Amino acid sequence: MSGTRYGDDVDALDAWTRLADEYVDEVQDPENRYYVYHVNRLLIGRRLLDRSGLIRHGAQGLDFGCGDGVLMERLLADGCVMEGTDIAPAMIERARRRLEGTGCPLSVGGIEQLAKLPAGRFDFIVALNVLAYFTPDEETRFFSEVSRILKPGGGLLVSNVNALFDLYTLNSFTREFLNREFWEAASVDASALLTHPELPQRTDYAVKANPLSYREVLRGFGLAERDRDFFNFHRIAPLLVPDGHTLNDYLVVDVDELDRIPEWKRMLACSTYFSLSVKE
Ligand SMILES: C[S@@+](CC[C@H](N)C(=O)[O-])C[C@H]1O[C@@H](n2cnc3c(N)ncnc32)[C@H](O)[C@@H]1O
Repeated sequence: MSGTRYGDDVDALDAWTRLADEYVDEVQDPENRYYVYHVNRLLIGRRLLDRSGLIRHGAQGLDFGCGDGVLMERLLADGCVMEGTDIAPAMIERARRRLEGTGCPLSVGGIEQLAKLPAGRFDFIVALNVLAYFTPDEETRFFSEVSRILKPGGGLLVSNVNALFDLYTLNSFTREFLNREFWEAASVDASALLTHPELPQRTDYAVKANPLSYREVLRGFGLAERDRDFFNFHRIAPLLVPDGHTLNDYLVVDVDELDRIPEWKRMLACSTYFSLSVKE
């Protein structure tokens, strides 16, 4: 086994209460080294929403796991009627500051908040980089609730951890992927194939999305995947980064540059997967 995992042994509320300040700096401070990453991932999300035709004046939208409200601010500017919810009070406090004067309703909470909302309420729901912090049970409840509270024809945009990236990294996550997806029943362990079977030890995620099968997962909840994109391209597997360099030296986050990389390569070597689906 690799190290700890969100959704198994790391509590999202604890983690995000701790991470809030650091995260908001990343999103809001142009001097922060991750700022460009956030600018570009939001562009990718925005482009998928634009292509979907869901963004129009008066459209009712929900940002689930809204963080500091960066996306809501833009959607409000487009005339959407937004509301936001997030499990971490510290994040909602930051969103309140950012959205002061807009009248946008914000609430603290997790999946249970969705159960309080009436059926068929929203034209679209966004949850960017949120599902990775769910337990598998929360993921199931999320999709059920989303399907209930979306209007027919309404859309869901999620960005998630790309499970296929584990095949590209040739590390402990690759071992987990191969054991889980192929060899568990045969009691064979992929460790023998890997040079560094114990690495990495950083926090992993219980919930990831496999772009090759996500369509079927969504279909189980009455959602049809209509569009997708990939983000955060690793030019080489993280364990191959040479001494004296950082992972960042080998990342592609610029949207134009990403667009020039063939999709099959992005599907494997991007760590983030965006999926846009529509309630049938
Ligand atoms: C990486 S941040 C993304 C914030 C925002 N969606 C964005 O794209 O800028 C993840 C957010 O998800 C929230 N979150 C994690 N688990 C959650 C849950 N079970 N319910 C609601 N929010 C959750 C965290 O508090 C945090 O604000």
